[in-house]
Amino acid sequence: MSSFTPIQRILEGCCEGETVQIRGWIYRKRESKKTIFLLIRDRTGVIQCTIKQDSAAWKAADKVTIESSVLLSGGVKRDERAPGGFEITAEQLTIVGLAETFPITEYQSEEFLRDVRHLWLRSRRMTLIMNIRSELLRFVHEFFRKQGFIEVSPPMFISSACEGGATLFGLKYFDKDLYLTQSAQLYLEALIYSLEKVYCVAPSFRAEKSRTVRHLTEYWHVEAEQAFVGMEEMMKLEEDLVTYVCHKIGENCRKELDALKADRDKLLEVKTPFPRITYSEAIERLKAKGFKIKWGEDLGYDEEKAIAEEFGKPFFIHTYPKQIKAFYCKTHPENPELALSADLLVPRVGEITTGGAREDDKEKLIKRLEEFGLRREDYQWYIDLRRYGTVPHAGFGLGVERLLMWMLDLENVMEAIPFPRTIRRFHP
Ligand code: 4AD
Ligand code: MG
Repeated sequence: MSSFTPIQRILEGCCEGETVQIRGWIYRKRESKKTIFLLIRDRTGVIQCTIKQDSAAWKAADKVTIESSVLLSGGVKRDERAPGGFEITAEQLTIVGLAETFPITEYQSEEFLRDVRHLWLRSRRMTLIMNIRSELLRFVHEFFRKQGFIEVSPPMFISSACEGGATLFGLKYFDKDLYLTQSAQLYLEALIYSLEKVYCVAPSFRAEKSRTVRHLTEYWHVEAEQAFVGMEEMMKLEEDLVTYVCHKIGENCRKELDALKADRDKLLEVKTPFPRITYSEAIERLKAKGFKIKWGEDLGYDEEKAIAEEFGKPFFIHTYPKQIKAFYCKTHPENPELALSADLLVPRVGEITTGGAREDDKEKLIKRLEEFGLRREDYQWYIDLRRYGTVPHAGFGLGVERLLMWMLDLENVMEAIPFPRTIRRFHP
């Protein structure tokens, strides 16, 4: 037999009464005197296989261990008692790779599971999350392509900061000191002068010393930049993107969402326009809740969560004090204390995007660089963009893992990426 049937197909009832061959790994094993029950998993699902003592498969079934890789053939029958409603009565079982005693058993600590993430990735839970992650990225690309955006590939080695020196990872680049990118934004800005609407999906690196449930040191960043638009258009693009992805995942990943006990309705109910409040309104709301925050101070995780709770769904906070936003933000035309910058927040996670209009005036940008104590020569190329055909433009950055954390109700952002990197975790 040369072809293998995906387990999902069998569970869908397509192969009842037929002889099939499957391949996968042993998920569970249970034995009685005359029968061995094997649960076998492949990337599509898990199915029960029974091996009778008089079958040719018995010897291998007796020997096989949890997480061994196997080929199995047998007849498919409907059985209400079997998980999934179908089972295979095995005729042949071949062990491809016999596993040693698998270190992961039931009820293990999150810490241990992270230590053995290379093995924990085989769990149903991680398989489901990784499947949805892949779909999420597919729909992000689909959205931008439909909107006429061009995908670009920014550099990872950079020579000047985008998001401030405090979270820069330095590295030796031959005999020079360089950094790992924190955001592709400045490079996307350069690309709009020819391509007008660009986006990328790439890693960003942050030397985050804080240990929180929403910070990684390496995360995947969806970033977009567009010419001839402002903050308003950018918020519209962001809400359209998030809505598109939520709906598509809700419609296409029902099985995975149900298996993860994720709130599918929450995704399908996402609808534009998202509520918008200004930073000043956010401060008023926080004061009313008893927070001791003053206008001009940045919102922390607790503040973000408290306001997000009120909305119970995605919403924007926009028009921030200039001093708490980056040097590249465009100053409000009527109030020089404010920046045209917007964050998108969701319940439990807080901020999932930051975006807004960019300073497109050369002199104002130079002044901002000076105010931030940044060296003009490091940003000469970026200033050049304002010297040659400057244009109003805006963009944003979305953290893939934060979005997934909210969509799937994950406890920790570390669950949303196969090999999480944090201040303490860089292995495996
Ligand atoms: O808010 P940030 O720092 O904004 C920027 O980098 C802009 N230059 C983006 C742009 O306009 N192109 O990061 C954007 C998003 C955050 O809202 C958050 O979702 C995510 O990136 N993010 C992180 N995710 C996980 N771990 C971290 N340490 C993160 N830092 C930022
Ligand atoms: Mg931000």
